Amino acid sequence: MPATATAPKPKLGPPTVADQPMFIGGKWVESVSGKTFSTVNPATGETICRVAEGDSADIDLAVKAARKAYETGLWSKMNPSERGRLINKLADAIEANKNELASLETLDNGKPIGESVAADLPLTVQCYRYFAGWADKNHGHTIPIDGNYFCYTRHEPVGVVGQIIPWNFPMLMQAWKWAPALACGNTLVLKPAEQTPLTALRIAKLAQDIGFPDGVINVVPGYGPTAGAALASHMDVDKIAFTGETGTGKIVMTAAAQSNLKRVSLELGGKSPNVVFADADLDAAVEGAYFGLFFNQGQCCVAGSRVFVEESAYDEFVYKIAAKAKGRKIGDPFDIRTEQGPQVSEEQMHRVNGYIDAGKKDGARLVAGGDTTNHPRGYFVQPTVFADVQDEMTIAREEIFGPVMSILKFKNIEEVIERGNRTHFGLAAAVWTKDIQKALRLSNSLKAGTVWVNCYDVFDAAAPFGGFKMSGIGRELGSYALQMYTEVKTVIMAM
Ligand code: NAI
Ligand code: MG
Repeated sequence: MPATATAPKPKLGPPTVADQPMFIGGKWVESVSGKTFSTVNPATGETICRVAEGDSADIDLAVKAARKAYETGLWSKMNPSERGRLINKLADAIEANKNELASLETLDNGKPIGESVAADLPLTVQCYRYFAGWADKNHGHTIPIDGNYFCYTRHEPVGVVGQIIPWNFPMLMQAWKWAPALACGNTLVLKPAEQTPLTALRIAKLAQDIGFPDGVINVVPGYGPTAGAALASHMDVDKIAFTGETGTGKIVMTAAAQSNLKRVSLELGGKSPNVVFADADLDAAVEGAYFGLFFNQGQCCVAGSRVFVEESAYDEFVYKIAAKAKGRKIGDPFDIRTEQGPQVSEEQMHRVNGYIDAGKKDGARLVAGGDTTNHPRGYFVQPTVFADVQDEMTIAREEIFGPVMSILKFKNIEEVIERGNRTHFGLAAAVWTKDIQKALRLSNSLKAGTVWVNCYDVFDAAAPFGGFKMSGIGRELGSYALQMYTEVKTVIMAM
């Protein structure tokens, strides 16, 4: 028989997953301690498989492997176009395995399969392709300095990079971290979130099969205070990139400062204002606010969780969005009709329900959802909308990271700018209006890394992303992301 028959492409549906080792120095290994942990299907609460549990000993081995790969120059001194070609091949491999990867993401995270297919997957592929193109374009300058000297800069890799990612977009956050780091010639150690380690390990296998040199990428699953902390405080890690809660970001930055002053980039929480003026296309604003908050079970750092609506449009807006929230279809994430799956974990479900209780207690007006009695199976939370929310209430101040919307009333533009900015966060904002003056005024005045005008949650690998204030340090995506993974060397030569 000629070997022409290809294996049938996996269909969308919950895959069976074997227990997972970790990936260090091109080898699939158990943890040094022999410990493992469960990763759970949040739609059922059942264990999917056991995963090797890394801690400081495994992080140390992974850092050593990444250091060795870096110093041999196998990656950092590879022809840049070849590096770009390999990153593009990884994008191809992800695309070729998209059904399997989307299914794995939905199984591990609980997000609706339609969203894994239509959002996470294509954005992940786009990110690798975009940065593959930068691999041979991250060049320095020649600089005319005084005197008889030739001055130029070299853009060199930072070296060994540690990366810690959260569970809300596991595959996409991995792409945002890996693609620019690899394009710039760094080697890396990734610690995926303990709730969602599976797609990171699968993509590491794809990279290995394509021919990424051993040690260039390493994946150590494990918990934050053990594996994560070991990476952030490691003396031989040159840079740490983190996405997650603002409080954890502070811990990571402290660990970096107290160890070797490694470079730090942080993408943290938000409490993004979404401002709806009465002159807006109200139905579009309702749709945008609904999507901007409830997308991904509300587990988005950019979630438009403070919806400010101008007085004269307020009642109509509240009525329309409450009706939409009540009609939201919750259920099995593998059912293509499902709009909202479970929260990622039992802990998150309780945490979000705690915020719903706080909203009720603080006297906000519940207009949709709000039932916090536990679902019989899986970590589901009712899509919930509170109206008449006041700035001081807990639900208007803290990152909820769940399907809970707060609607606040405003009277005029000065007021909404001041209240919109009255937060320690500054990740994103949006404005809905047909008046170009108002759109520009808010875009300029809101202290946020991204401002969307008459749209929400529009992402592109070419558009930089990151936070003002306590929402982060540095910018991911776009050409700006290269700065986070590059050391600039100045060379001055007497002539
Ligand atoms: P987290 O910030 O604790 O976890 C994110 C990542 O950091 C995970 O990989 C975790 O293992 C790691 N980590 C935790 N503690 C660490 C430590 N001491 N040193 C190094 N790494 C550490 O977030 P968590 O606990 O999963 O979620 C709690 C809340 O954080 C959520 O309810 C949400 O409000 C917020 N959050 C925000 C995210 C964002 O993108 N803005 C993403 C995830 C969570
Ligand atoms: Mg935590």
